[in-house]
Amino acid sequence: MQTDGVILSVRGLSVSYGHIHALKEISLEVSKGEIVVLIGANGAGKTTILETILGINKVEKGSIVFRGKDITGRTADRNVRSGVFLVPEGRGVFPSMTVRDNLLLGAHHDPRNANTKMERVFSSFPVLGERKEQVAGTLSGGERQMLAIARALMSSPELILVDEPSIGLAPKMVSEIFNIITGLNGEGYSILLSEQNAYKALKCAHRGYVIETGNIVLQGASEELLNDPGIREAYLGA
Ligand SMILES: Nc1ncnc2c1ncn2[C@@H]1O[C@H](COP(=O)(O)OP(=O)(O)OP(=O)(O)O)[C@@H](O)[C@H]1O
Ligand SMILES: [Mg+2]
Repeated sequence: MQTDGVILSVRGLSVSYGHIHALKEISLEVSKGEIVVLIGANGAGKTTILETILGINKVEKGSIVFRGKDITGRTADRNVRSGVFLVPEGRGVFPSMTVRDNLLLGAHHDPRNANTKMERVFSSFPVLGERKEQVAGTLSGGERQMLAIARALMSSPELILVDEPSIGLAPKMVSEIFNIITGLNGEGYSILLSEQNAYKALKCAHRGYVIETGNIVLQGASEELLNDPGIREAYLGA
């Protein structure tokens, strides 16, 4: 693990939807070159954390610092330009558009080297290259998740936020998606992901945070969390 410097620092972040306090003074960090996972049950606040970092939700309290710059309250568009990209829950690919056009959307804010980036994406994901003219709606679930991740790469991100990458996938494909995430990390991307599949996510990540009803209740190195009796009981079915 390379941890030369913090790439993302979230401090005391609170977010509400009307009277629902979805995040209650959350603090977390991602170092350069790290994979960090947010573990939590339905409704814990994982998506809210990722969307707020991207700039979709209004920050009620607290700060978000990316590469040393305070980005609290900045728009998602601006954050994408400065190197943050979200692979959304449910993948967010456009079913009636081709693989190629979905990929081009990932580069819409900087289309200059889009074709070169697309060739690079196809060499990492040959299955997408073979299917570039196919509409995304006819891809398998796993291929669609690959497309969603590949689209993130088209934006030349430094920090990739991935919301529940394994949801709805068969076990073999889940392993493949985590292998892809590990591979991207090996290429230098920093990754913050959310997962309900705690075991596989912790096996893949360097560190994790456990979220319950908008609070961080536990944090630590992945091995520590994997061995924690409370986590084993609540999230690992042990
Ligand atoms: N747009 C919204 N309006 C009102 N409440 C919302 C909205 N989005 C999320 N919430 C509420 O905020 C809380 C956190 O939701 P969030 O989607 O962040 O959870 P999550 O951990 O991603 O859950 P899941 O695992 O089901 O995706 C939940 O109580 C949810 O009902
Ligand atoms: Mg969610």
